[in-house]
Amino acid sequence: MTPARLARHEATLAGLERKERLRTLVPRDGADFSSNDYLGFAGSTRLAMAVHSALQRGVPVGAGGSRLLRGNHPEHEALEAEAAAFLGAERVLYFGSGYGANVALFSTLPQRGDLIVHDALVHASAHEGIRASRAQAVPAAHNDVGAFEEAIVRWRSNGGTGGDPWIAVESVYSMDGDRAPLAELAALAERHDGFLVIDEAHATGVFGPSGRGLAADLDNRRNVVVLHTCGKALGVSGALLGTSTTLCDYLINRARGFIYSTAPSPLMAATVREALRMLVDEPKRRADFDVLRAFANTEIAEKLGVEGSGSQILPVIIGDNGRAVRIAARMRADGFDIRAIRPPTVPEGTARLRIAITLNVDMPTISRMFTRLAAIMAEEKP
Ligand SMILES: Cc1ncc(COP(=O)(O)O)c(C=O)c1O
Repeated sequence: MTPARLARHEATLAGLERKERLRTLVPRDGADFSSNDYLGFAGSTRLAMAVHSALQRGVPVGAGGSRLLRGNHPEHEALEAEAAAFLGAERVLYFGSGYGANVALFSTLPQRGDLIVHDALVHASAHEGIRASRAQAVPAAHNDVGAFEEAIVRWRSNGGTGGDPWIAVESVYSMDGDRAPLAELAALAERHDGFLVIDEAHATGVFGPSGRGLAADLDNRRNVVVLHTCGKALGVSGALLGTSTTLCDYLINRARGFIYSTAPSPLMAATVREALRMLVDEPKRRADFDVLRAFANTEIAEKLGVEGSGSQILPVIIGDNGRAVRIAARMRADGFDIRAIRPPTVPEGTARLRIAITLNVDMPTISRMFTRLAAIMAEEKP
């Protein structure tokens, strides 16, 4: 490859740098205010022991093939059965990542002639799946149930009578930390004979009975598809997709990312199973986390004058990309691992610090972090 061939890529990178949107890999360092390891499971002794004992009983690291071929391991099936019972789902499928599960489900389940109405703030992986879908898709204003309904009514009156509407939301939004009005959205799906797809990535393990997520409180889940990622509060990797047996069978037969990909590591499946048990056996972690989260929400309001989201994801909207990056870098230099999130991950003009609260930090550290952040924000004038 001659250097000239790379000119377009280099020009794009230079353009990103001019707009202060160039991303680089920064090592983890300092107090954790940016991971999604909300309950501190990732580095826990119990999960380390689960890996150790799985290896000792002969669970392989690699699956060796697709689930549809020899890659289907008893550990995958044991996890799926245990997760289905825990989550109250008819059936559960384990995917290698939440990203892959979202792409698989949105590109496969909604059919030609269907409509996908998605919240304007759904994750990039949902967008990717929606882009690959044969269904029509429209965004709805964030958390605006009326806007979701209007989109469905408009589609029906324009001839969308043969297909089904699919409503796509997150129960707790990844960059804003606020909750979707799930009960109203479920009623809307019911009223219009549609499906509700709920990405619980940031609720799994944290909210709902025993950390089963916010969809667990819905009365009727016949037409609901729920995605629980395993790389966040569960501290491992992969994703558990819970829905009807019919839709799971459909995915097994039609989802290209499921069929044409090596199955997730059986070792990780065994570890996720232990993480689910930890949610039940170690309620103190969630109780401690509730207290820490409430404390952080009070601190952000008192020290920054910013209203907390109520969840463990606390965005501080900065607006300007460069200022967000500078403030985050100064916080890291002072020992607080805070990252700036810029467009296109968040809407233009809403660059922010995404502060995540986890059990990897304690109250005094949270308090010192907000005091320091208030000082740095005052110095780094807009
Ligand atoms: C809302 C949401 N869905 C899906 C994903 C992807 O999950 P995973 O990290 O397991 O690929 C993420 C992770 O960033 C997320 O925030």
